[in-house]
Amino acid sequence: MNRARKFSVLVYITLFCLCWRRVSAQSSPVFACDVASNPSLGSLGFCNSSLGLDLRVSDLVKRLTLQEKIGFLVNSAGSVSRIGIPKYEWWSEALHGVSYVGPGTHFSSLIPGATSFPQVILTAASFNTSLFEAIGRVVSTEARAMYNVGLAGLTFWSPNINIFRDPRWGRGQETPGEDPLLASKYATGYVKGLQKSDDSDPNRLKVAACCKHYTAYDLDNWKGIDRYHFNAVVTKQDMDDTFQPPFKSCVIDGNVASVMCSYNQVNGKPTCADPDLLAGVIRGQWNLNGYIVSDCDSVDVFYNSQHYTKTPEEAAAKAILAGYFISFYFFC
Ligand SMILES: *[C@@H]1O[C@H](CO)[C@@H](O)[C@H](O)[C@H]1NC(C)=O
Ligand SMILES: *[C@@H]1O[C@H](CO)[C@@H](O)[C@H](O)[C@H]1NC(C)=O
Repeated sequence: MNRARKFSVLVYITLFCLCWRRVSAQSSPVFACDVASNPSLGSLGFCNSSLGLDLRVSDLVKRLTLQEKIGFLVNSAGSVSRIGIPKYEWWSEALHGVSYVGPGTHFSSLIPGATSFPQVILTAASFNTSLFEAIGRVVSTEARAMYNVGLAGLTFWSPNINIFRDPRWGRGQETPGEDPLLASKYATGYVKGLQKSDDSDPNRLKVAACCKHYTAYDLDNWKGIDRYHFNAVVTKQDMDDTFQPPFKSCVIDGNVASVMCSYNQVNGKPTCADPDLLAGVIRGQWNLNGYIVSDCDSVDVFYNSQHYTKTPEEAAAKAILAGYFISFYFFC
């Protein structure tokens, strides 16, 4: 993995999920705290399911070295074999069905494909909110089935809920369209469909969804300006009326596990380095119960392409300081 990719696909921390999978396809997922195959793990506090989550998290964090923690800040998270934590690939995708696009998901002769629902812009055109959730439920059922046979992760970087305002953008079909209210309903419904576990405990996720790309992001490449250099100049009113509502609903009504910040700048600041947009709005005002992830190499982009920082280290620090938080979710 090259340095740019490694440092850029930064997952500003994050949760310590207790079940993980191998990167290559296996017949079953690999779990942390797999006491059946390694009884000595049973004495570790974070493996003790009769303790509360907070205690388990602090026990785990205490055991990790700085290097190990840093190894968790990228999508291909490293293993910590001395305490039985296998490696984990955070990146899976399921915009309108489980997809092979993310390296965390593979099809095989056992599961050669998943249901591919219509492009999101068509589903949204039904204006049927229960359908948004119903599709999400089917997708997450298939995702869990694939996870169970070692073919998918548990963290899906979907849906894409950017407001599709500029028809020249090449990715409009991924989104629910240009209407903030409809996009908000879509975000809430699809995220609930993906995440809600059968017992309806909001801290037990079926899979973790991610609303992306935060925010004011609907330009790929136009007249010499590409998404890596685009500075969206947006008034406060347009932010509040147009671009933010789907994300706000996603976090508040959908209780999403993750938000992805975008490549572009908003009013002169890279979204992934903006403490007002991340810590202030997503965590502070909306109370995200989860993690913030950068769009692929957007931390690298604000150093290398936008020259927003002088060094890569400063870029990583700015990103972490803008949105650092620890959350804890249970998948198993
Ligand atoms: C798990 O925690 C409970 C509650 O503190 C404790 O009684 C029990 O001994 C622990 N189990 C192990 C295997 O350490
Ligand atoms: C809306 O979607 C649901 C499935 O969630 C379906 O049963 C219902 O028929 C749809 N409503 C309309 C008006 O098509």
